[in-house]
Amino acid sequence: MSEQIKPVRKAVLPVAGLGTRLLPATKVMPKEMLTILDRPLIQMAVEEARQAGIEEFIFVISSGKDVLIRQFECPQALMDMLEKRNKVEQIEKVKASSLPEGAIQTASQEVALGLGHAVWCAKELVGDEPFAVILPDDTVRHERSCLAQMMDAYNQHGGNIVATCEVDMKDASKYGMLDIASRDGQTVSVKGLVEKPKAEEAPSNMAIFGRYILQPEIFNYLDRHEKGAGGEIQLTDAMVHLIQDQPFHGFAFEGERLDCGSEVGFVKANIAYALDKDSISDEVAEYMMEKLRAYHEGKAMLGKSKKAAA
Ligand code: G1P
Repeated sequence: MSEQIKPVRKAVLPVAGLGTRLLPATKVMPKEMLTILDRPLIQMAVEEARQAGIEEFIFVISSGKDVLIRQFECPQALMDMLEKRNKVEQIEKVKASSLPEGAIQTASQEVALGLGHAVWCAKELVGDEPFAVILPDDTVRHERSCLAQMMDAYNQHGGNIVATCEVDMKDASKYGMLDIASRDGQTVSVKGLVEKPKAEEAPSNMAIFGRYILQPEIFNYLDRHEKGAGGEIQLTDAMVHLIQDQPFHGFAFEGERLDCGSEVGFVKANIAYALDKDSISDEVAEYMMEKLRAYHEGKAMLGKSKKAAA
């Protein structure tokens, strides 16, 4: 790493949202606790970050979501019970999914004013050093953690980096979209960004996916609390300003992106990870084939034929 490139030790996880897209599942339970097989989304995000060398986690949280912090504790009563029953494997699972004391700090965001506002809430805890932002709904399925891949690019280029992937132009209005100056392999130099543009106004088909490495100067712009797309304080808008001052890259990561904040994305993620898991993959694949056959014959839907449902 060159001398001017400061290491990234902290990750901000904006987890204050209400998860209304997944109601009623999220009525009581935070959406970040929804599980892909045996791991809650928040666990997957933290594990990804740890694989990238992150040591400190800043959860931007709202009241009622404390369970997200408890997920990383090692509860004594549970450990005692597992030890008494000699459940060695389970003990390891609990330990591996816990964080050392003090690794999580919290900042509160009681009103949902936008992603930019959520990140701004972590300002004091981030301090004057580069940091990562992870949106736990957005997962990337790959052997090498997406943030670790980005960290390699960061150690080469420094500055600011967002994860990026190609999307259908018709979906541009769901994402922050990149205006690209040049490309070099997986890394693109970014000259502008537009948050949730109409398809015809998107500067490219490259979208921001929920991973960022940012320099602390982003807070100079987040401090302004400017409202943007959807009347929200957008992280993208603050980054638009930062692009004028500092190097800014997009990194086309390797791996399958899965939007677990939507019903379809969540189902896809469960299927993809199930097929990765040796102990269940054969049975799951067989079941899926059976279901697919029935689906194509119009027999898979409870209480109605495919035609009747259409
Ligand atoms: C946020 C960001 C957007 C980004 C997206 C990735 O939008 O504002 O720029 O492309 O995450 O998932 P949200 O999905 O919170 O509306």
